[in-house]
Amino acid sequence: MIERDLEDLPTLVSLCKRRGFIFQSSEIYGGLNSCWDYGPLGAQFKFNVKMSWWKEMTRRQDIVGLDAAILMHPTVWKASGHVDGFSDPLVDCTDCKTRFREDHGGQSKDGKLACPNCKSTNLTEPRNFNLMFETYMGPVKDDAGIVYLRPETAQGIFVNFLNVQTSMRKKLPFGIAQIGKSFRNEITPGNFTFRTREFEQMEMQFFVKPGMDDEWFENWKKTRMSYYDRIGLRQEKLRFHPHGEGELAHYAKAAFDVEYNFPIGWQELEGIHNRTDFDLSQHQEFSGKKLEYFDEAAKEKFLPYVIETAVGCDRLCLAVLCDSYREEVRQLENGKEDTRVVLRFKPEFAPIKAAVLPLSKKPQLQELSAKVRDSLIDQWDVEYDEAGSIGKRYRRQDEVGTPLCITVDFDSLEDNAVTVRHRDTMEQDRVNLDQLRGYVAEKLAQF
Ligand code: GAP
Repeated sequence: MIERDLEDLPTLVSLCKRRGFIFQSSEIYGGLNSCWDYGPLGAQFKFNVKMSWWKEMTRRQDIVGLDAAILMHPTVWKASGHVDGFSDPLVDCTDCKTRFREDHGGQSKDGKLACPNCKSTNLTEPRNFNLMFETYMGPVKDDAGIVYLRPETAQGIFVNFLNVQTSMRKKLPFGIAQIGKSFRNEITPGNFTFRTREFEQMEMQFFVKPGMDDEWFENWKKTRMSYYDRIGLRQEKLRFHPHGEGELAHYAKAAFDVEYNFPIGWQELEGIHNRTDFDLSQHQEFSGKKLEYFDEAAKEKFLPYVIETAVGCDRLCLAVLCDSYREEVRQLENGKEDTRVVLRFKPEFAPIKAAVLPLSKKPQLQELSAKVRDSLIDQWDVEYDEAGSIGKRYRRQDEVGTPLCITVDFDSLEDNAVTVRHRDTMEQDRVNLDQLRGYVAEKLAQF
Protein backbone atom coordinates (compact mmCIF):
# COMPACT_ATOMS: atom_id res chain seq x y z
CA MET A 1 0.00 0.00 0.00
CA ILE A 2 1.29 3.46 -0.90
CA GLU A 3 0.21 6.40 1.20
CA ARG A 4 -0.03 9.92 -0.20
CA ASP A 5 -0.49 13.26 1.53
CA LEU A 6 -2.66 16.04 0.20
CA GLU A 7 -0.78 17.47 -2.77
CA ASP A 8 -2.82 20.56 -3.61
CA LEU A 9 -5.69 22.62 -2.25
CA PRO A 10 -8.09 22.08 -5.20
CA THR A 11 -8.27 18.37 -4.23
CA LEU A 12 -9.41 19.40 -0.75
CA VAL A 13 -11.80 22.07 -2.07
CA SER A 14 -13.48 19.40 -4.16
CA LEU A 15 -13.76 16.91 -1.27
CA CYS A 16 -15.14 19.66 1.00
CA LYS A 17 -17.84 20.52 -1.53
CA ARG A 18 -18.69 16.91 -2.39
CA ARG A 19 -19.04 15.88 1.22
CA GLY A 20 -20.76 18.92 2.70
CA PHE A 21 -17.87 20.52 4.56
CA ILE A 22 -17.40 23.86 2.76
CA PHE A 23 -19.26 25.54 -0.12
CA GLN A 24 -18.50 28.71 -2.00
CA SER A 25 -20.61 31.55 -0.60
CA SER A 26 -23.57 32.63 -2.79
CA GLU A 27 -22.57 29.98 -5.31
CA ILE A 28 -25.80 30.17 -7.35
CA TYR A 29 -24.99 33.85 -8.02
CA GLY A 30 -21.49 33.05 -9.21
CA GLY A 31 -19.97 33.16 -5.74
CA LEU A 32 -18.51 36.01 -3.70
CA ASN A 33 -14.76 36.17 -3.90
CA SER A 34 -12.99 34.60 -0.91
CA CYS A 35 -16.18 33.98 1.08
CA TRP A 36 -17.04 30.42 2.13
CA ASP A 37 -19.97 28.71 3.84
CA TYR A 38 -19.51 25.73 6.14
CA GLY A 39 -21.96 22.97 5.22
CA PRO A 40 -23.53 20.49 7.66
CA LEU A 41 -20.36 18.48 8.30
CA GLY A 42 -18.11 21.54 8.11
CA ALA A 43 -20.18 23.44 10.65
CA GLN A 44 -19.95 20.55 13.13
CA PHE A 45 -16.23 20.11 12.42
CA LYS A 46 -15.55 23.83 12.92
CA PHE A 47 -17.56 23.78 16.14
CA ASN A 48 -15.43 20.85 17.34
CA VAL A 49 -12.24 22.78 16.54
CA LYS A 50 -13.54 25.78 18.48
CA MET A 51 -14.51 23.62 21.44
CA SER A 52 -11.06 22.05 21.49
CA TRP A 53 -9.38 25.48 21.69
CA TRP A 54 -11.98 26.88 24.12
CA LYS A 55 -11.55 23.98 26.53
CA GLU A 56 -7.77 24.14 26.22
CA MET A 57 -7.90 27.78 27.30
CA THR A 58 -10.80 28.18 29.69
CA ARG A 59 -10.36 24.95 31.67
CA ARG A 60 -7.21 26.51 33.09
CA GLN A 61 -7.72 28.25 36.41
CA ASP A 62 -5.91 31.32 35.14
CA ILE A 63 -7.99 31.97 31.98
CA VAL A 64 -11.59 33.13 31.60
CA GLY A 65 -13.74 33.57 28.50
CA LEU A 66 -15.37 36.57 26.85
CA ASP A 67 -17.72 37.24 23.93
CA ALA A 68 -17.45 40.91 22.96
CA ALA A 69 -19.47 42.71 20.26
CA ILE A 70 -18.13 42.98 16.72
CA LEU A 71 -19.05 46.66 16.52
CA MET A 72 -17.09 48.84 18.93
CA HIS A 73 -16.75 52.53 19.65
CA PRO A 74 -14.83 53.96 16.67
CA THR A 75 -12.22 55.52 18.96
CA VAL A 76 -11.14 51.99 19.91
CA TRP A 77 -9.60 51.70 16.45
CA LYS A 78 -7.93 55.11 16.71
CA ALA A 79 -6.36 54.04 20.00
CA SER A 80 -5.31 50.62 18.69
CA GLY A 81 -3.57 52.19 15.71
CA HIS A 82 -5.81 50.52 13.13
CA VAL A 83 -7.34 53.73 11.72
CA ASP A 84 -3.93 55.21 10.93
CA GLY A 85 -1.72 52.17 10.54
CA PHE A 86 -3.70 49.12 9.42
CA SER A 87 -3.07 49.47 5.72
CA ASP A 88 -1.27 47.83 2.84
CA PRO A 89 0.56 49.84 0.13
CA LEU A 90 -1.06 49.10 -3.24
CA VAL A 91 0.53 49.54 -6.66
CA ASP A 92 -1.14 49.52 -10.10
CA CYS A 93 0.60 48.31 -13.24
CA THR A 94 -0.18 50.85 -15.95
CA ASP A 95 0.49 48.26 -18.70
CA CYS A 96 -1.56 45.19 -17.72
CA LYS A 97 -3.69 46.94 -15.03
CA THR A 98 -2.85 44.37 -12.37
CA ARG A 99 -3.20 45.75 -8.85
CA PHE A 100 -0.86 44.22 -6.30
CA ARG A 101 0.56 44.72 -2.83
CA GLU A 102 3.93 46.45 -3.01
CA ASP A 103 5.58 43.62 -1.06
CA HIS A 104 4.15 41.08 -3.52
CA GLY A 105 5.81 42.75 -6.51
CA GLY A 106 8.73 41.26 -8.42
CA GLN A 107 12.06 42.85 -9.28
CA SER A 108 13.32 43.95 -12.69
CA LYS A 109 16.92 43.46 -13.82
CA ASP A 110 17.88 46.91 -12.55
CA GLY A 111 16.38 46.14 -9.12
CA LYS A 112 13.23 48.22 -9.65
CA LEU A 113 9.82 47.03 -8.46
CA ALA A 114 8.13 45.06 -11.26
CA CYS A 115 4.60 43.88 -11.94
CA PRO A 116 4.24 40.23 -10.76
CA ASN A 117 1.99 39.55 -13.78
CA CYS A 118 3.69 41.14 -16.83
CA LYS A 119 7.06 42.17 -15.28
CA SER A 120 6.56 45.78 -16.42
CA THR A 121 8.12 48.53 -14.33
CA ASN A 122 5.52 51.10 -15.44
CA LEU A 123 3.80 51.33 -12.10
CA THR A 124 1.90 53.91 -10.07
CA GLU A 125 3.29 55.18 -6.76
CA PRO A 126 2.21 52.98 -3.83
CA ARG A 127 -1.03 54.18 -2.20
CA ASN A 128 -2.11 53.10 1.27
CA PHE A 129 -5.35 51.17 1.48
CA ASN A 130 -6.95 50.67 4.91
CA LEU A 131 -7.99 47.08 5.52
CA MET A 132 -10.88 47.86 7.87
CA PHE A 133 -14.46 47.46 6.64
CA GLU A 134 -16.55 50.54 7.36
CA THR A 135 -20.27 50.70 7.90
CA TYR A 136 -22.75 53.20 9.36
CA MET A 137 -24.59 53.01 12.63
CA GLY A 138 -28.16 54.41 12.48
CA PRO A 139 -30.15 55.72 9.53
CA VAL A 140 -27.89 58.59 8.43
CA LYS A 141 -24.87 57.78 6.31
CA ASP A 142 -22.47 60.49 7.43
CA ASP A 143 -19.01 60.50 8.98
CA ALA A 144 -20.44 60.78 12.49
CA GLY A 145 -22.08 57.36 12.06
CA ILE A 146 -19.02 55.47 10.82
CA VAL A 147 -18.24 52.27 12.69
CA TYR A 148 -15.88 49.46 11.75
CA LEU A 149 -16.25 45.71 11.59
CA ARG A 150 -13.50 44.65 13.99
CA PRO A 151 -10.29 43.53 12.24
CA GLU A 152 -9.21 41.55 15.34
CA THR A 153 -11.02 40.26 18.40
CA ALA A 154 -8.21 41.36 20.72
CA GLN A 155 -9.47 44.92 21.28
CA GLY A 156 -12.72 43.64 22.81
CA ILE A 157 -10.54 41.96 25.42
CA PHE A 158 -8.37 45.02 26.12
CA VAL A 159 -11.29 47.39 26.64
CA ASN A 160 -12.91 44.87 29.01
CA PHE A 161 -9.74 44.17 30.97
CA LEU A 162 -10.88 45.87 34.18
CA ASN A 163 -14.49 44.65 33.90
CA VAL A 164 -13.26 41.07 33.73
CA GLN A 165 -10.53 41.45 36.31
CA THR A 166 -12.78 43.01 38.95
CA SER A 167 -15.93 40.94 38.29
CA MET A 168 -13.98 37.68 38.33
CA ARG A 169 -11.62 38.79 41.14
CA LYS A 170 -8.62 37.78 39.05
CA LYS A 171 -5.05 38.32 40.13
CA LEU A 172 -2.13 38.56 37.74
CA PRO A 173 -1.10 36.59 35.82
CA PHE A 174 -4.38 35.72 34.13
CA GLY A 175 -5.78 35.53 30.62
CA ILE A 176 -8.97 36.29 28.70
CA ALA A 177 -9.91 34.07 25.78
CA GLN A 178 -12.34 34.85 23.00
CA ILE A 179 -13.60 33.32 19.75
CA GLY A 180 -15.29 35.52 17.17
CA LYS A 181 -15.55 36.88 13.67
CA SER A 182 -13.07 39.43 12.36
CA PHE A 183 -13.10 41.25 9.05
CA ARG A 184 -10.27 42.54 6.89
CA ASN A 185 -10.64 43.92 3.40
CA GLU A 186 -7.64 41.86 2.29
CA ILE A 187 -6.12 42.83 -1.03
CA THR A 188 -4.96 39.35 -1.87
CA PRO A 189 -7.36 36.86 -0.28
CA GLY A 190 -7.27 33.32 -1.59
CA ASN A 191 -6.05 29.77 -1.22
CA PHE A 192 -9.46 28.51 -0.14
CA THR A 193 -10.14 29.45 3.50
CA PHE A 194 -6.51 30.32 4.20
CA ARG A 195 -6.96 34.07 3.72
CA THR A 196 -10.46 35.47 3.58
CA ARG A 197 -12.11 38.80 4.26
CA GLU A 198 -14.45 37.43 6.90
CA PHE A 199 -12.89 34.91 9.26
CA GLU A 200 -13.00 33.73 12.82
CA GLN A 201 -10.22 34.25 15.31
CA MET A 202 -9.43 32.46 18.56
CA GLU A 203 -7.39 34.89 20.62
CA MET A 204 -6.12 34.86 24.17
CA GLN A 205 -4.58 37.83 25.95
CA PHE A 206 -2.49 36.89 28.99
CA PHE A 207 -1.90 39.79 31.41
CA VAL A 208 1.33 39.67 33.38
CA LYS A 209 3.41 41.90 35.61
CA PRO A 210 5.98 43.87 33.56
CA GLY A 211 9.29 42.07 33.91
CA MET A 212 7.58 38.67 33.82
CA ASP A 213 6.70 39.05 30.14
CA ASP A 214 9.75 37.37 28.60
CA GLU A 215 9.29 34.29 30.74
CA TRP A 216 5.57 34.06 29.92
CA PHE A 217 6.27 34.59 26.23
CA GLU A 218 8.54 31.52 26.23
CA ASN A 219 6.02 29.61 28.30
CA TRP A 220 3.18 30.30 25.84
CA LYS A 221 5.34 29.34 22.87
CA LYS A 222 5.86 25.90 24.42
CA THR A 223 2.25 25.54 25.53
CA ARG A 224 0.86 26.33 22.10
CA MET A 225 3.24 24.00 20.26
CA SER A 226 2.41 21.16 22.61
CA TYR A 227 -1.31 21.81 21.99
CA TYR A 228 -0.81 21.31 18.25
CA ASP A 229 1.07 18.12 18.95
CA ARG A 230 -1.73 16.85 21.19
CA ILE A 231 -4.47 17.52 18.66
CA GLY A 232 -2.58 15.41 16.15
CA LEU A 233 -0.89 17.85 13.76
CA ARG A 234 2.31 16.22 12.57
CA GLN A 235 5.37 17.76 14.25
CA GLU A 236 7.39 17.76 11.03
CA LYS A 237 4.74 20.04 9.52
CA LEU A 238 5.08 22.64 12.29
CA ARG A 239 7.80 25.15 13.05
CA PHE A 240 8.37 28.52 14.69
CA HIS A 241 9.15 31.58 12.65
CA PRO A 242 10.61 34.46 14.68
CA HIS A 243 9.71 37.95 13.44
CA GLY A 244 12.70 40.06 12.49
CA GLU A 245 12.70 43.80 13.29
CA GLY A 246 11.15 44.74 9.95
CA GLU A 247 8.31 42.24 10.41
CA LEU A 248 7.23 43.20 13.94
CA ALA A 249 3.73 44.70 14.26
CA HIS A 250 3.62 48.24 15.65
CA TYR A 251 2.50 46.95 19.06
CA ALA A 252 4.92 44.07 19.48
CA LYS A 253 8.18 43.77 21.41
CA ALA A 254 8.67 40.17 20.23
CA ALA A 255 6.69 37.85 17.99
CA PHE A 256 6.85 34.27 16.80
CA ASP A 257 4.55 32.66 14.29
CA VAL A 258 3.64 29.02 14.53
CA GLU A 259 3.87 27.96 10.89
CA TYR A 260 2.27 24.93 9.25
CA ASN A 261 3.48 23.38 6.03
CA PHE A 262 0.27 23.70 3.94
CA PRO A 263 0.21 22.41 0.33
CA ILE A 264 0.94 26.08 -0.57
CA GLY A 265 4.09 25.99 1.58
CA TRP A 266 5.05 27.13 5.08
CA GLN A 267 2.51 29.69 6.27
CA GLU A 268 1.45 31.36 9.49
CA LEU A 269 -1.05 29.41 11.54
CA GLU A 270 -0.85 31.33 14.80
CA GLY A 271 0.84 34.49 16.04
CA ILE A 272 2.33 34.72 19.52
CA HIS A 273 3.12 38.31 20.47
CA ASN A 274 4.52 40.21 23.38
CA ARG A 275 2.29 43.30 23.06
CA THR A 276 3.79 44.99 26.15
CA ASP A 277 1.39 47.54 27.71
CA PHE A 278 0.86 49.17 24.31
CA ASP A 279 -2.88 48.52 24.03
CA LEU A 280 -3.84 49.20 27.63
CA SER A 281 -1.86 52.44 27.68
CA GLN A 282 -3.39 53.57 24.37
CA HIS A 283 -6.92 52.86 25.64
CA GLN A 284 -6.14 54.57 28.92
CA GLU A 285 -5.01 57.64 27.04
CA PHE A 286 -7.83 57.76 24.46
CA SER A 287 -10.67 56.92 26.89
CA GLY A 288 -9.34 59.00 29.77
CA LYS A 289 -10.13 56.04 32.09
CA LYS A 290 -7.48 54.48 34.32
CA LEU A 291 -6.88 50.86 33.37
CA GLU A 292 -4.19 50.12 35.94
CA TYR A 293 -4.07 46.96 37.97
CA PHE A 294 -3.61 47.24 41.73
CA ASP A 295 -1.19 44.69 43.09
CA GLU A 296 -2.34 44.24 46.68
CA ALA A 297 0.74 42.39 47.88
CA ALA A 298 3.20 44.96 46.56
CA LYS A 299 0.75 47.87 47.08
CA GLU A 300 1.50 49.25 43.64
CA LYS A 301 -0.45 50.19 40.54
CA PHE A 302 0.72 49.47 37.01
CA LEU A 303 -0.43 48.60 33.51
CA PRO A 304 0.10 44.88 32.88
CA TYR A 305 2.01 43.58 29.90
CA VAL A 306 0.21 41.26 27.50
CA ILE A 307 1.29 38.02 25.87
CA GLU A 308 -1.12 37.22 23.06
CA THR A 309 -1.79 33.93 21.28
CA ALA A 310 -3.90 34.45 18.14
CA VAL A 311 -4.97 31.72 15.74
CA GLY A 312 -7.48 31.85 12.90
CA CYS A 313 -10.20 29.25 13.48
CA ASP A 314 -10.72 28.77 9.73
CA ARG A 315 -6.97 28.46 9.28
CA LEU A 316 -6.69 25.84 12.00
CA CYS A 317 -9.62 23.98 10.41
CA LEU A 318 -7.74 24.09 7.11
CA ALA A 319 -4.54 22.82 8.74
CA VAL A 320 -6.41 19.96 10.42
CA LEU A 321 -8.08 19.03 7.12
CA CYS A 322 -4.77 19.13 5.21
CA ASP A 323 -2.97 17.16 7.91
CA SER A 324 -5.63 14.45 8.17
CA TYR A 325 -6.02 13.89 4.44
CA ARG A 326 -4.51 10.64 3.11
CA GLU A 327 -4.82 8.71 -0.11
CA GLU A 328 -4.14 5.02 0.32
CA VAL A 329 -3.34 3.35 -2.97
CA ARG A 330 -3.58 -0.44 -3.15
CA GLN A 331 -2.74 -2.81 -6.00
CA LEU A 332 -5.68 -5.08 -6.76
CA GLU A 333 -5.30 -8.68 -7.95
CA ASN A 334 -6.65 -7.71 -11.38
CA GLY A 335 -3.71 -5.32 -11.75
CA LYS A 336 -5.78 -2.18 -11.22
CA GLU A 337 -5.26 0.38 -8.48
CA ASP A 338 -7.74 1.20 -5.77
CA THR A 339 -7.51 4.54 -3.95
CA ARG A 340 -9.11 5.06 -0.56
CA VAL A 341 -9.37 8.67 0.60
CA VAL A 342 -9.52 9.05 4.35
CA LEU A 343 -9.54 11.97 6.76
CA ARG A 344 -7.63 10.71 9.77
CA PHE A 345 -9.12 13.16 12.25
CA LYS A 346 -8.64 12.75 15.95
CA PRO A 347 -12.18 11.74 17.02
CA GLU A 348 -12.65 15.05 18.89
CA PHE A 349 -12.70 16.82 15.49
CA ALA A 350 -14.70 14.26 13.51
CA PRO A 351 -18.17 15.62 12.70
CA ILE A 352 -19.54 12.06 12.89
CA LYS A 353 -18.04 9.80 15.55
CA ALA A 354 -19.84 6.65 14.42
CA ALA A 355 -22.08 5.70 11.52
CA VAL A 356 -24.78 3.07 11.89
CA LEU A 357 -25.25 1.19 8.63
CA PRO A 358 -27.92 -1.46 8.09
CA LEU A 359 -26.62 -3.99 5.59
CA SER A 360 -29.86 -3.76 3.63
CA LYS A 361 -33.12 -1.80 3.68
CA LYS A 362 -35.06 -4.70 5.18
CA PRO A 363 -37.44 -3.28 7.87
CA GLN A 364 -36.06 -5.54 10.65
CA LEU A 365 -32.54 -4.23 10.00
CA GLN A 366 -33.75 -0.63 9.79
CA GLU A 367 -35.55 -1.02 13.09
CA LEU A 368 -32.59 -2.54 14.92
CA SER A 369 -30.23 0.07 13.37
CA ALA A 370 -32.44 2.89 14.62
CA LYS A 371 -32.28 1.35 18.10
CA VAL A 372 -28.49 1.15 17.90
CA ARG A 373 -28.31 4.79 16.84
CA ASP A 374 -30.67 5.86 19.64
CA SER A 375 -28.55 3.99 22.18
CA LEU A 376 -25.49 6.12 21.33
CA ILE A 377 -26.82 9.51 20.25
CA ASP A 378 -26.98 11.04 23.74
CA GLN A 379 -23.20 10.90 23.96
CA TRP A 380 -21.86 10.97 20.41
CA ASP A 381 -22.67 12.45 17.00
CA VAL A 382 -23.94 9.31 15.28
CA GLU A 383 -25.24 9.17 11.73
CA TYR A 384 -27.65 6.62 10.31
CA ASP A 385 -27.09 5.87 6.62
CA GLU A 386 -28.84 3.26 4.52
CA ALA A 387 -28.32 4.69 1.01
CA GLY A 388 -26.14 2.75 -1.45
CA SER A 389 -23.93 -0.32 -1.20
CA ILE A 390 -22.14 -0.98 2.07
CA GLY A 391 -18.75 -0.52 0.34
CA LYS A 392 -19.70 2.93 -0.91
CA ARG A 393 -21.09 3.88 2.48
CA TYR A 394 -17.80 2.87 4.16
CA ARG A 395 -15.85 4.97 1.65
CA ARG A 396 -18.07 7.98 2.27
CA GLN A 397 -17.52 7.70 6.01
CA ASP A 398 -13.74 7.34 5.44
CA GLU A 399 -13.77 10.51 3.36
CA VAL A 400 -15.50 12.51 6.10
CA GLY A 401 -13.27 11.06 8.81
CA THR A 402 -15.79 8.94 10.76
CA PRO A 403 -13.71 6.83 13.16
CA LEU A 404 -16.15 3.92 13.53
CA CYS A 405 -18.75 2.28 11.27
CA ILE A 406 -21.28 0.00 12.94
CA THR A 407 -22.91 -2.47 10.58
CA VAL A 408 -26.17 -4.18 11.43
CA ASP A 409 -26.62 -7.42 9.45
CA PHE A 410 -28.97 -10.40 9.43
CA ASP A 411 -26.91 -12.21 12.07
CA SER A 412 -27.49 -9.22 14.36
CA LEU A 413 -31.14 -10.21 14.59
CA GLU A 414 -30.03 -13.56 15.98
CA ASP A 415 -26.90 -12.85 18.02
CA ASN A 416 -27.69 -9.27 19.22
CA ALA A 417 -24.25 -8.18 17.97
CA VAL A 418 -22.95 -5.78 15.32
CA THR A 419 -19.75 -5.45 13.27
CA VAL A 420 -17.65 -2.39 14.09
CA ARG A 421 -15.16 -1.25 11.46
CA HIS A 422 -12.16 0.87 12.40
CA ARG A 423 -11.47 3.78 10.00
CA ASP A 424 -7.67 3.64 9.91
CA THR A 425 -6.97 -0.10 10.02
CA MET A 426 -10.28 -1.19 8.44
CA GLU A 427 -10.22 -4.03 10.98
CA GLN A 428 -13.58 -5.31 12.13
CA ASP A 429 -14.79 -6.55 15.51
CA ARG A 430 -18.02 -8.30 16.37
CA VAL A 431 -19.46 -6.53 19.41
CA ASN A 432 -22.47 -7.47 21.50
CA LEU A 433 -25.01 -4.64 21.72
CA ASP A 434 -24.88 -4.74 25.52
CA GLN A 435 -21.20 -3.83 25.33
CA LEU A 436 -21.38 -1.35 22.45
CA ARG A 437 -21.27 1.91 24.43
CA GLY A 438 -18.21 0.83 26.39
CA TYR A 439 -16.55 -0.42 23.21
CA VAL A 440 -17.17 2.84 21.31
CA ALA A 441 -15.85 4.94 24.21
CA GLU A 442 -12.73 2.78 24.49
CA LYS A 443 -11.99 2.75 20.75
CA LEU A 444 -12.53 6.50 20.28
CA ALA A 445 -10.05 7.17 23.08
CA GLN A 446 -7.42 5.05 21.27
CA PHE A 447 -7.24 7.00 17.99
N1 GAP B 1 -4.63 40.17 17.47
C1 GAP B 1 -3.49 39.84 16.70
C2 GAP B 1 -3.80 39.45 15.32
O1 GAP B 1 -4.91 39.60 14.87
P1 GAP B 1 -2.75 38.43 13.17
O2 GAP B 1 -1.43 37.73 12.99
O3 GAP B 1 -3.07 39.56 12.26
O4 GAP B 1 -2.74 38.91 14.69
C3 GAP B 1 -3.91 36.24 13.96
O5 GAP B 1 -3.90 37.37 13.11
C4 GAP B 1 -4.32 35.00 13.20
O6 GAP B 1 -5.58 35.22 12.57
C5 GAP B 1 -3.37 34.63 12.06
O7 GAP B 1 -2.29 33.87 12.55
C6 GAP B 1 -4.28 33.81 11.17
O8 GAP B 1 -4.39 32.47 11.65
C7 GAP B 1 -5.63 34.49 11.34
N2 GAP B 1 -5.89 35.42 10.22
C8 GAP B 1 -5.43 36.68 10.06
N3 GAP B 1 -5.89 37.21 8.92
C9 GAP B 1 -6.65 36.27 8.32
C10 GAP B 1 -7.41 36.20 7.11
N4 GAP B 1 -7.49 37.24 6.29
N5 GAP B 1 -8.06 35.06 6.82
C11 GAP B 1 -8.01 34.00 7.66
N6 GAP B 1 -7.32 34.00 8.82
C12 GAP B 1 -6.65 35.12 9.16
